[in-house]
Amino acid sequence: MDHDIFGRFDGHVAVITGAASGIGAASMELFRRAGAIAVGFDLEAGPDILSVDVSDSEAVERGLAEVVDRYGRLDIVHGNAGINVPGRAHSISDADYRRVMGVCCDANFYLVRSGVRYMRERGGVFLFTASMCGIGATPRSPIYNMAKHAVVGLTRSVALDYGAQGIRAVALLSGPTHTAMVDSLWPEGELRDILVGSTSVGRLSQPEEQARAAVFAALPGSSYLTGGVINVDGGATAGWNEMASRMLQIKAPV
Ligand SMILES: NC(=O)c1ccc[n+]([C@@H]2O[C@H](COP(=O)([O-])OP(=O)(O)OC[C@H]3O[C@@H](n4cnc5c(N)ncnc54)[C@H](O)[C@@H]3O)[C@@H](O)[C@H]2O)c1
Repeated sequence: MDHDIFGRFDGHVAVITGAASGIGAASMELFRRAGAIAVGFDLEAGPDILSVDVSDSEAVERGLAEVVDRYGRLDIVHGNAGINVPGRAHSISDADYRRVMGVCCDANFYLVRSGVRYMRERGGVFLFTASMCGIGATPRSPIYNMAKHAVVGLTRSVALDYGAQGIRAVALLSGPTHTAMVDSLWPEGELRDILVGSTSVGRLSQPEEQARAAVFAALPGSSYLTGGVINVDGGATAGWNEMASRMLQIKAPV
């Protein structure tokens, strides 16, 4: 059997943001297992994780420079860090607005701006963990919805502007995934049941299922895959209007 249909990572260096938890931690593990050198960015340093606040453009620039200093190249950037502060627009402070946009949106622009410099010779891949909220909206998450839509726009721009240099970009439209984010925002209860019920597979995804899509998109053999999105949502967006209308029936806390 041919185990090499998609090519292999061979000395490729991958930077994964939000690497300490959830989808980012799974991505670190799977990129490593697939043969890449994986370096994480997160708020706190840890084994193979640099302390980089990705909403700080200078920190992102310094972090990527350190990776290239250490390993000599940069091939893959998985912009994955994300946070959400739920609430309808009128209840959201400037500070929360800036925090969510900083992590979910600005950070990915900074990664591209600094990262493409290191990819000009050999090409490279940008992956972004967007969300189903990159193509539709979840009730009471206006900043998150905005930021994730913007990430899809950034994906398309990178594909257009750097395709000739062999740089690809793909956004993952992730569905509800069992991570700290979901546990804190939607603990067991009615909203969580609606999230699960919005999928046709009838369950949350595991972080590894998201990370596998990231690895697939980054592999050298996925060479014609750029400028688009991959739905990794257990069928949720196939019937998403139903989810929004059911969520709206639940009394909003704000
Ligand atoms: N869990 C889901 O259901 C779901 C669904 C769709 C999309 N997503 C997206 O997946 C991505 C990963 O989320 P997750 O569910 O694994 O969440 P998570 O909370 O488990 O992990 C997020 C990580 O990002 C890090 N982080 C936060 N702010 C940061 C900053 N300023 N700089 C560096 N790191 C920072 C956190 O420390 C944490 O380790 C996010 O972009 C999220 O929007 C998640």
